[in-house]
Amino acid sequence: MTLPPTPKAPAWMQKAHWVANPVGYMESAKRQCGDIFTAKVGPQGTPLIYIDNPQGIQQILTKDTKELTAPGSVNGLLQPLIGDYSVILLDGASHKRQRQLLMPSFHGERLRSYGDLICNLAQQVMGRFSVDASFFARPAMQEISLLVILQAVFGVTQGERYERLKDLTSQLMDFFSSTAKSSFLFFPILQQNLGPWSPWGRFLHVREEIDKLIYAEISDRRQQDNSQRTDILSLMMSATDESGEGMSDRELRDELLTLLFAGHETTATSLSWALYWTHRYPSVLAQLQEEIASLGDHPDPMQIIRLPYLSAVCNETLRLYPVAILTFPRVVPENTSFHLMGYDIPAGTLLMGCIYLAHQREDIYPQPKQFQPERFLERQFSAYEFLPFGGGVRRCIGAALAQMELKLVLATVLSNYQLVLAEKKPVRPQRRGVTLAPETGIRMKLAGLRKQPSSTLAATRV
Ligand code: HEM
Repeated sequence: MTLPPTPKAPAWMQKAHWVANPVGYMESAKRQCGDIFTAKVGPQGTPLIYIDNPQGIQQILTKDTKELTAPGSVNGLLQPLIGDYSVILLDGASHKRQRQLLMPSFHGERLRSYGDLICNLAQQVMGRFSVDASFFARPAMQEISLLVILQAVFGVTQGERYERLKDLTSQLMDFFSSTAKSSFLFFPILQQNLGPWSPWGRFLHVREEIDKLIYAEISDRRQQDNSQRTDILSLMMSATDESGEGMSDRELRDELLTLLFAGHETTATSLSWALYWTHRYPSVLAQLQEEIASLGDHPDPMQIIRLPYLSAVCNETLRLYPVAILTFPRVVPENTSFHLMGYDIPAGTLLMGCIYLAHQREDIYPQPKQFQPERFLERQFSAYEFLPFGGGVRRCIGAALAQMELKLVLATVLSNYQLVLAEKKPVRPQRRGVTLAPETGIRMKLAGLRKQPSSTLAATRV
């Protein structure tokens, strides 16, 4: 049995390159090895197989779990944050059960009810900037996405508990904003509580404070009639599995932190890129503003999310620099081997769809480094050619919410504010914890208002 080719550099050098410059590493490996390669970047030199060929990706994402498993244990480094019951850490039947309990909250009518909320929160955050003020898009988008999670997912909208949660969850997420800061997750030896000023001690303290607030909220909800509430926590509390069992307090807490962790940074990063690209190319911005304006002064959020050019701009944003570079790993079960693209991959090997490289394929996306939303109007891409949210049994649970948020925040900002990109040089992607994000905070300037605040898209719909 032979593994696919690996780049020429020794394992330690590959790992250093991957950590410091994931895009450079993947592009160089692809040039040397082609559509499938062995990346020697795993813990203790564990080989990982990266695939960007759509047929290969389809094979690994759609195989029956007897041929390939999608174990949660390989994501174990996130356990200190998201807990043992997080859907990300479960596998097999318990993973399936948890997904079945969570998925209905992220679809259909329920999701649609968050449209006005998202537009209002975008207005609330952007409305704080005065004309001529310079600001960074990243923290502004991060604040919007945090408020969406607290209000739509946690269902906490005001009062002392809301203010405390806002402050503490943003502190918690800050631990994961860079590889350096989150290194204690990657290196368990650093997980030493040396008092409140040590990184791990501080992390434990913030997590404990958040847990107290979450358990207090759950306890209050258990005593109330939640039938009229539409937030995701209430829906999760009323969901039951086939045997009539609901989620325990611990499960609810772990899933709330999972949704915060998986949904906050990812959405904020995509929004920051969307603002960057639309302001880098004036013709894209003009076309988009014209399309949004065609809906009239007070469009329904559901009309906005169906706009074709807006959808194409958001898809192209997610294609060019996908926030998640890789799918979660699939593993070849014990005592078997897996035949993939001419290789017999041995038991225990980890396989990952390489989302970044799949989105950069010249045969599928001509001039892949160019931002060209039109490509999404001219052609349909398969689920294995365009996969910003992964696929198969671990496909992103929040994909519909994230896409809706991306469109509504972008439409709210572009229809109300005249912004100018104040970055002097092209912005490149760089590693941000386990994700890919702009190398800067995306400096912008508020040049003027396109509408008076009283007639804004969101304000009219409260
Ligand atoms: C632009 C924003 C987002 C992107 C690009 C993104 C991308 C992804 C990707 C690539 C995966 C792994 C899929 C796989 O291995 O096949 C994933 C998993 C997941 N995402 Fe997202 N995500 C985003 C937003 C969200 C939001 C808003 C939420 C929830 C509030 C969320 C919740 C999750 C969860 C719970 C999983 C784990 C699913 C499982 O293990 O079964 N994500 N996401």
